[in-house]
Amino acid sequence: MRPEVVAHRGASAHRAEHTLGAYELAIEQGADAFECDVRVSRDGQLVCVHDRRIDRTSNGRGVVSELTVSRMAHLDFSGWHHQTHERGVLTLDALLGLAKDSSVRLFVETKHPVRYAGLVEAKLVALLARHGLNAPEDKQNSPVVMMSFSSAAVRRVREAAPRVPTVLLFDRLPKRLGSGMLPPWADHAGPDVRLLRRHSDYVARAAEHGHDTYCWTVDDPADVELCARAGVRYVATNRPADTRSRLDQG
Ligand code: G3P
Ligand code: CA
Repeated sequence: MRPEVVAHRGASAHRAEHTLGAYELAIEQGADAFECDVRVSRDGQLVCVHDRRIDRTSNGRGVVSELTVSRMAHLDFSGWHHQTHERGVLTLDALLGLAKDSSVRLFVETKHPVRYAGLVEAKLVALLARHGLNAPEDKQNSPVVMMSFSSAAVRRVREAAPRVPTVLLFDRLPKRLGSGMLPPWADHAGPDVRLLRRHSDYVARAAEHGHDTYCWTVDDPADVELCARAGVRYVATNRPADTRSRLDQG
């Protein structure tokens, strides 16, 4: 079975990351799932922004947690990348709506591991409950998966919503992780693809412990092939069309 193609911040090689346009294009490009990063705005909403500040990805300035969604409503979040002009920050609520309507899975990565520790995860679980997605019957095929580099954040979601699958992300492989074991609150392993280049047997080791692997960011054709050979279940890519066609060629 080929890995599922996860559009990393949308089809972000071709459209501005974390815009509806980027996610709509990802669907056209054959993505099976979306990835997004979430932060809390000043008015307590979950918004899809990677960086602490909006400076790189909009024509505004400032720290996400110090700006309200209505303050960001008039800013252009796509012109920096592409000749479209999408106004307003993308909320997780809106992205969840698109994912549900399009029947694609959504991988949500919580940021703020320290400053708002706990708040972002609590808001995520509350939002999932509002959408009826906080307790999927079939956990293996849950429409939403939670991810973080913070083991504590993953643990909080496991405790608040045990049926929502979790991924522990990492970009180093200390001995304990290298054995394929994860903390008991993490379902899947989320290594940087650069780790797989050196430790291609990692995926099999994680599988021995019952964990699937989600690998990022898999744009290079050689990495796509490596992931397919190694048995990675999910590949996060900025180029869903290229990655999908390479995987389909088998
Ligand atoms: O999909 C995981 C990956 O997105 C983690 O890194 O910095 O792109 O959020 P980053
Ligand atoms: Ca991310």
